[in-house]
Amino acid sequence: MSDELNELLNKAISRELQVSIQYMWQHVLAGKLGDLDLKMKLREISIAEMKHAEIIAERLTQLGGTPTTECDPISVGKTVLEIAKNDVEAEDGAIALYPRIIDLARNEGDEITAKIFEKILSEEKEHHAFFSSLLNTR
Ligand SMILES: [Fe+2]
Ligand SMILES: [Fe+2]
Repeated sequence: MSDELNELLNKAISRELQVSIQYMWQHVLAGKLGDLDLKMKLREISIAEMKHAEIIAERLTQLGGTPTTECDPISVGKTVLEIAKNDVEAEDGAIALYPRIIDLARNEGDEITAKIFEKILSEEKEHHAFFSSLLNTR
């Protein structure tokens, strides 16, 4: 694993930690906002993001790296519209970063990491579509 891939995997972990907490606190807030469907969906996606953090940290460790505990800045928001905006932005970040990791891993002959990120990226695209749809209905 190159230093660059090591750094990008830790960037990915930092943003997975961020969204895991961000979506879980939005899940808690959504109860107060009275949106129970959104509340349960946020919980489900939060847990998916924590699993992403786990999978990436496991892979980084296998490659000889050390998973970071640094978390990117969390933006919860106060309304459903703010939640939707913050979360579309967060998913945009994943959709920008993960293809770079896939390409770099493949260039280094690391097909396992490339495949892991292809699967995660497809899930991030689903999250992006969900939060975008939320934005369009508010
Ligand atoms: Fe994720
Ligand atoms: Fe996501």
